[in-house]
Amino acid sequence: MKMNWVEKMLMNNPIRAAFQIWYEVPLLERLGGRTEGMKVLEVGCGRGVGTEQILNRFGASSVLAMDLDPDMVRLARKRLMKYPADRLSLTVGDVTAIQAEDQSFDAVFDFAIIHHVPIWQDALKEIHRVLKPGGRFFFQEVTSHALEKWSYQTFMVHPVENRFSGTEFINELERLGIQVGTKTTEKYGGDFVYGVGIKK
Ligand SMILES: C[S@@+](CC[C@H](N)C(=O)[O-])C[C@H]1O[C@@H](n2cnc3c(N)ncnc32)[C@H](O)[C@@H]1O
Repeated sequence: MKMNWVEKMLMNNPIRAAFQIWYEVPLLERLGGRTEGMKVLEVGCGRGVGTEQILNRFGASSVLAMDLDPDMVRLARKRLMKYPADRLSLTVGDVTAIQAEDQSFDAVFDFAIIHHVPIWQDALKEIHRVLKPGGRFFFQEVTSHALEKWSYQTFMVHPVENRFSGTEFINELERLGIQVGTKTTEKYGGDFVYGVGIKK
């Protein structure tokens, strides 16, 4: 499900970018390490702030970044045009039907997108499919605890049914064979869950 205009305003601004760069990225790096020289997929790349961090700070050799919303892909393309085609591909795509072969990525990044997917379990199934054995899944997600709040329900649009808590998200990953263990943390009273899982 695409973002509405209010959420686009909240996401496409320098405050969100600073929070992602100075807080979320270091937290994910502490939990899961870097991805030096690796082939990485980013689902729901938005305007590409996280993509740039995956290329530079995490050190990926190449990134395929995709988003359901062509407007976001257009913004990402503008931001990231200095990167050559052998390091970066940007495309419109759906995380529940990833256009890639089985076991084709060393790592997958999810900066706050799977709570936008009506059947979020299908997104995790696809991420599991495209990860190589031993590959890592870096995630930052918004839980039902946040989505039930008046502010989220009034100003933003998300699927209503079938939302997840941090524990439910991690249990589903573990059920699929992506082991998270202790490499996870919840923040803001359980509104956000961060973590890194390794595919068995
Ligand atoms: C809250 S924004 C996060 C954007 C970016 N990752 C960030 O952290 O700034 C959620 C993004 O997920 C995208 N999205 C929603 N459903 C999707 C789907 N099924 N497949 C791929 N992207 C999706 C939206 O278009 C939006 O850009």
